[in-house]
Amino acid sequence: MNVRQFDSYEAMSRYAAFSVATQIRQKPDSVLGLATGSTPIGLYDGLAQLYQEGLISFRRVTTFNLDEYYGLPAEHPESYHAFMKRYLFSKVDIPAAQTHLMDGCAKDPAEECRRYDAAITAAGGLDLQVLGIGFDGHIGFNEPGDSFAVDCHLVQLDPSTLAANARFFGGDPAKVPASALTMGLRCIMGARHILLLCNGPEKHAILKQAIGGPVRPEVPASILQLHPNVDVLFF
Ligand code: GLP
Repeated sequence: MNVRQFDSYEAMSRYAAFSVATQIRQKPDSVLGLATGSTPIGLYDGLAQLYQEGLISFRRVTTFNLDEYYGLPAEHPESYHAFMKRYLFSKVDIPAAQTHLMDGCAKDPAEECRRYDAAITAAGGLDLQVLGIGFDGHIGFNEPGDSFAVDCHLVQLDPSTLAANARFFGGDPAKVPASALTMGLRCIMGARHILLLCNGPEKHAILKQAIGGPVRPEVPASILQLHPNVDVLFF
């Protein structure tokens, strides 16, 4: 793991944006795994700026998002579909057909997960995966558990995750969807390069466990220690 500390959120985001931009310039048809949450917003702003400056194009890029709330339609303002449109897809030249998210309203979540895993495999896997980290060590919505969840799956969100994400739902944890669809750890670990972003000092304790503690399913992000090409960025 390459671990880099920055002075500020802005500096971390700028570095992350240049990393993703380098990937796109080296391979214009890159397959990117993307994250939501407050962490990558600065990265997406940076990418939108680099696009506006004519330094990168998303015309041949394909994206797969990590997760989506189960039960939220794509049009809901707090869906991850809406998030991605708001912060990135509406600001760059990526064709909509090349952006992929799980359908939060899929009637058969297991079938939707099989479809999603197969689509990632058919695209040749992920060249670069962007990750944030949850307070409980989750990546995507792979919550702490008794074993590492390998495939895309429907997950019951941890009470700490509901509490952390309540700020997007009027401050009420009961309004946060109780479950979500998430990419599993096989796809994430199959990415050829991973950028893990850690958003602020309040996450230093969980980051320390993830990158310096034992690899164990109680801290899902700790599995990244077994990946050969991870950049950990924090401030
Ligand atoms: C969210 C997302 C994760 C994200 C994490 C951290 O709920 N599902 O992909 O990395 O939790 O969120 P934030 O970046 O807002 O701190």
